[in-house]
Amino acid sequence: MERTFAMVKPDGVQRGLIGAIIGRLERRGIKIAAMKLMQISPALAAEHYQEHSGKPFYEGLVDFITSGPVAAMVLEGDNVIALVRTMMGATDPQDAGMGTIRGDYGISIAKNIIHGSDSPLSANREIALFFSPGEILDCSRSIDRWIF
Ligand code: RTP
Ligand code: MG
Repeated sequence: MERTFAMVKPDGVQRGLIGAIIGRLERRGIKIAAMKLMQISPALAAEHYQEHSGKPFYEGLVDFITSGPVAAMVLEGDNVIALVRTMMGATDPQDAGMGTIRGDYGISIAKNIIHGSDSPLSANREIALFFSPGEILDCSRSIDRWIF
């Protein structure tokens, strides 16, 4: 089954939205294969956001993502990479539809609550960056046959 990397960003953690966000993912039927609260180091932030290096918002992005704990997770499900991106909504919460996580909880593009991998390549890269293989659990749920 497909896996993706997602995290509740520091603004979401500070605002007490971890539960609401994980609740949405769980209610959709998405499986949590790994999860941890962690503080991202500047080095990890630079690796994670390397594609944005040199852009005008890069410094602010690294400062923000390292500014407090994030809730990092590996999620599993059919087509879960695209599914989580759809559930997140547009990068700028002002453009994100209602019913999406960013559309319902965010206002600012710099503080947009959640990250999700944008492709299979990013998902593999980001999962390996944030989790060791031993931290990712391969467990089936008895309800899976009703969802997948
Ligand atoms: P993310 O990587 O965080 O899941 O967000 P995304 O794919 O929707 O957006 P991406 O293009 O990867 O940008 C990463 C983060 O950089 C900030 N950003 N600011 N024009 C701007 O000021 C600007 N553009 C992007 C956002 O916080 C975005 O989530
Ligand atoms: Mg991105």
